[in-house]
Amino acid sequence: MQICRTIADIRAAVADMRAAGTIGLVTTMGALHAGHMALVNAASTHPNVVATIFVNPTQFGNASDLDTYPRTEEADLALLEQAGVTAVFIPSVDEIYPEGEETIVETTHLAQVFHGLVRPGHYRGVATVVTKLFNIIGPDAAYFGEKDYQQLAVIRTMVRDLHTPVTIHGVPTVREADGLAMSSRNVRLPPADRAAAPILIASLTAAEALLKSGETVEAAIDAIVATITTEPLATLGAVDIVDPTTFAPATGIPTGPVGIMISASFGDVMLIDQKEVTP
Ligand code: PAF
Repeated sequence: MQICRTIADIRAAVADMRAAGTIGLVTTMGALHAGHMALVNAASTHPNVVATIFVNPTQFGNASDLDTYPRTEEADLALLEQAGVTAVFIPSVDEIYPEGEETIVETTHLAQVFHGLVRPGHYRGVATVVTKLFNIIGPDAAYFGEKDYQQLAVIRTMVRDLHTPVTIHGVPTVREADGLAMSSRNVRLPPADRAAAPILIASLTAAEALLKSGETVEAAIDAIVATITTEPLATLGAVDIVDPTTFAPATGIPTGPVGIMISASFGDVMLIDQKEVTP
């Protein structure tokens, strides 16, 4: 497995790989867990897999969240090597954001709704860094978790609008035994908050059951709010039920699939989860 820290090095590695066939890309911020490895596994249908590890400062709302973001490079590299990844790109912040840089990429509507309302600038940071990584590596396909439902929609929209020649694949959420969606943030939860966090999947499951029994979106949202409220350690951030393609808010009794998106804070750790439901 090649480890590249500069744009020149990863470009040279990618040029060599091309002869062996297509390239699947998995972008990460490190602190890898089974959820990331599911992305690597999905990308492994390609003869070459490139992974990136870059804690992207522009997608963090506050400095302390960025500073405390887990960094576990050695363990990450061991996991990627074991999974048979061809090359890893681990750039510095200066490599990605050169001095004086002033270009951003933003999905103007999608970035400003739902989770974007509680995390202003977050999806602009994601769209900008993912565009840079696509331009640097030029993958044939890229793999993103369905857990970050809005992120996946932002990236699909951006690639469509900018005519970026890459196929985007969504990969189903990987969960802990108690149903908590895997996230690099989970390790920051003190034991009591960790024990409380499965309230997220409990609330999604309650909403799913209502929608499948013919209830309205409004009733499903009420059920989520009521379920989260039973857990004193959880503070509900946002809950939305949307059309999975247009991201328009769903109302009444849905006639097709809908995406349920939820965020809640446990102390200063914000977690998100989602479920796509076909009533
Ligand atoms: O999902 C993530 O880990 C990040 O948002 C991504 C896509 C790697 C961009 O920094």
